[in-house]
Amino acid sequence: TNIILLGPPGAGKGTQAKRLVDERAMVQLSTGDMLREAKTSGTEMGKRVSAIMDRGELVTDEIVIGLIEEKIGQGAGGGFIFDGFPRTLKQADALGDLLAKTGQKLDAVIEMQVDDAALVARITGRFTCGNCGAVYHDVTKPPAVAETCDACGSHDLRRRADDNEDALKTRLMEYYKKTSPLIGYYYAKGQLSSVDGLAEMDAVAAAVSKVLDKA
Ligand code: AP5
Ligand code: ZN
Repeated sequence: TNIILLGPPGAGKGTQAKRLVDERAMVQLSTGDMLREAKTSGTEMGKRVSAIMDRGELVTDEIVIGLIEEKIGQGAGGGFIFDGFPRTLKQADALGDLLAKTGQKLDAVIEMQVDDAALVARITGRFTCGNCGAVYHDVTKPPAVAETCDACGSHDLRRRADDNEDALKTRLMEYYKKTSPLIGYYYAKGQLSSVDGLAEMDAVAAAVSKVLDKA
């Protein structure tokens, strides 16, 4: 099953994607993670996108479409979770073409609905494990032992450079201008399901699972 998790910054896309990887052996394709990796490893592309990402703007369609093209070639056993991609109509069209070209299809698009006020609290409280990528929150998901990753024991817990109120405002604006039209795009294709992203993580996971079981 190939799905898209669609929603504004902080909606919980990464959190739910990681659960699906664990529970259903799906493969998470997060363009945000791929770009951050390029940034930390200091590749040419990483250097080019670094300041754009820190400001909270979208990087060019060409770059992210190229990243996805590299990954979806031979498909994935449990299916792909597209997390943070597509984010523009051009990217959505490109994904459709890439899947068709490789004999695959999109089974569902899950829109995670949250309100803007909740996003600020989520983003400013977030930190992640630099070693395994596990996602935490100061209030809603602190690790069991302070400063220690529950999943892998690492003490390398980090906050993202774009998780501040200024960059978040830009990220939200980018979302409403360029990404939210995808809701109508996939609705018209009959592929859209919406879940309440404000519910507790387990409840969101249950709602996502329900969509997947029907897809
Ligand atoms: P990206 O990495 O995709 O960031 P984003 O879309 O802003 O999404 P986030 O990772 O911030 O949020 P999330 O929905 O995954 O939330 P999470 O699960 O962590 O993109 C970053 C940048 O890269 C972009 O700005 C752009 O520059 C570039 N980029 C990436 N893809 C691109 C593309 N396709 N085109 C162009 N540019 C691109 O949850 C957030 C917090 O809330 C966590 O602390 C979590 O613990 C907590 N939480 C989650 N669920 C719940 C819940 N149900 N209840 C309470 N707390 C919860
Ligand atoms: Zn870890």
